[in-house]
Amino acid sequence: MFQSSTRSRCFTLLVLFFALFASAILGEDGLVTNGDFETPPATGFPKDEALVEGATEIPGWKTNGTVELVSSGQKQGAMILIVPRGAHAVRLGNDAEISQELTVEKGSIYSVTFSAARTCAQLESLNVSVPPASQTIDLQTLYNVQGWDPYAWAFEAAEDKVRLVFTNPGMEDDPTCGPIIDDIAIKKLFTPDRPKDNAVINGDYEEGPWMFANVSLGVLLPTKLDEETSSLPGWIVESNRAVRYIDSYHYSVPQGKRAIELLSGKEGIISQMVETTPNKPYTMSFALGHAEDKCKQPLAIMAFAGDQAQNIHYTPDSNSTFQLANLNFTAKAERTRIAFYSVYYNTRTDDMSSLCGPVVDDVRVWFSGARRLGLGGLGLGLGLGLGLWVFAVALF
Ligand SMILES: *[C@@H]1O[C@H](CO)[C@@H](O)[C@H](O)[C@H]1NC(C)=O
Ligand SMILES: *[C@@H]1O[C@H](CO)[C@@H](O)[C@H](O)[C@H]1NC(C)=O
Ligand SMILES: *[C@@H]1O[C@H](CO)[C@@H](O)[C@H](O)[C@H]1NC(C)=O
Ligand SMILES: *[C@@H]1O[C@H](CO)[C@@H](O)[C@H](O)[C@H]1NC(C)=O
Ligand SMILES: *[C@@H]1O[C@H](CO)[C@@H](O)[C@H](O)[C@H]1NC(C)=O
Repeated sequence: MFQSSTRSRCFTLLVLFFALFASAILGEDGLVTNGDFETPPATGFPKDEALVEGATEIPGWKTNGTVELVSSGQKQGAMILIVPRGAHAVRLGNDAEISQELTVEKGSIYSVTFSAARTCAQLESLNVSVPPASQTIDLQTLYNVQGWDPYAWAFEAAEDKVRLVFTNPGMEDDPTCGPIIDDIAIKKLFTPDRPKDNAVINGDYEEGPWMFANVSLGVLLPTKLDEETSSLPGWIVESNRAVRYIDSYHYSVPQGKRAIELLSGKEGIISQMVETTPNKPYTMSFALGHAEDKCKQPLAIMAFAGDQAQNIHYTPDSNSTFQLANLNFTAKAERTRIAFYSVYYNTRTDDMSSLCGPVVDDVRVWFSGARRLGLGGLGLGLGLGLGLWVFAVALF
């Protein structure tokens, strides 16, 4: 009895060890090493409300400048610092940075998910980079009342070993003001094949950034104009505000497990260039839904395909949380832009300030030419001809 339980415990430990080992070597999807900052430093976590600068080594990370491990409940003046999840997170002071080397696959696209909150300054931002690629993410807009949000940013791995760097580019009067970050995870992306009868890549949004199973805030996708390195393969976010990537575990999603919730009216635009044949007729169809996140109605979407634009109001059948909509257009070029934004600036009914909006999913574009009609006509013609022939033969 005792022996077998010891053995099984050993086995469990061994499995755990190999799982950790494998994830460290192969760079599996999920949290990076100490990505949640819950591993205690050699000297232990700094005591609450004591600003410890520099001296504390954060396991798994290299730091430079004023990098501070913060604990949940910790205060700065009258303000309680936000720790997105768990008991600890880090705060970057002016010009401070943290970085970690990652083992990746050269040439592949990776998406980094991280949670961020701003603290005392209004114009806080975060520079996330895997040199030479970098992007400054604006943390000025509060998308929800919790005060933090998960964000995603993607890069193409130029080497098998890359360095993921977070920098606070801010220059605030109070050098301890600066963004708090937590829960840093990575996911290798793949670009889904274009379906045979649909010109849209990843039109069902099933492929996208890493999402934590127990985080209910979705993942914000900030501006990303390069479709090659988008956290949402195929799509770009061309507005200066973010759109939200949502999952079916916490939101109502029309199809599959993922979808996009459009936020901030015209300031949140998602688009894709789809391949078309000039002068041919096409139909774009998509699901327009409500995320069931207490978002205040009315909801409406502006849908664009080539030179066509249509305003569609969310009016589902009785019990449904989504409806299907379509738009017909004639392609003018070999690539046609399709795009969506929310007509209204919606917030949740419970807190009146968290941003929300209509959900888009299952986007399809297909050639809607007269082919079917033509074939039907041909069939009818053949049928008639054959009938006449049989009739003629029967007569003689
Ligand atoms: C730390 O940051 C300073 C200022 O940005 C820079 O000059 C220095 O080289 C950095 N040190 C390391 C070890 O990266
Ligand atoms: C972000 O940081 C990287 C270095 O980590 C730097 O090369 C890049 O210029 C920075 N980007 C901005 C917009 O400040
Ligand atoms: C979420 O899940 C992670 C990993 O499964 C766990 O460590 C963490 O405690 C969970 N957080 C909450 C708030 O449930
Ligand atoms: C709507 O849902 C309710 C409760 O689930 C059910 O009783 C009702 O029959 C449904 N109505 C329709 C039209 O499906
Ligand atoms: C697009 O065309 C199809 C069939 O040709 C039609 O059923 C549909 O109503 C049209 N959509 C719109 C929005 O006009």
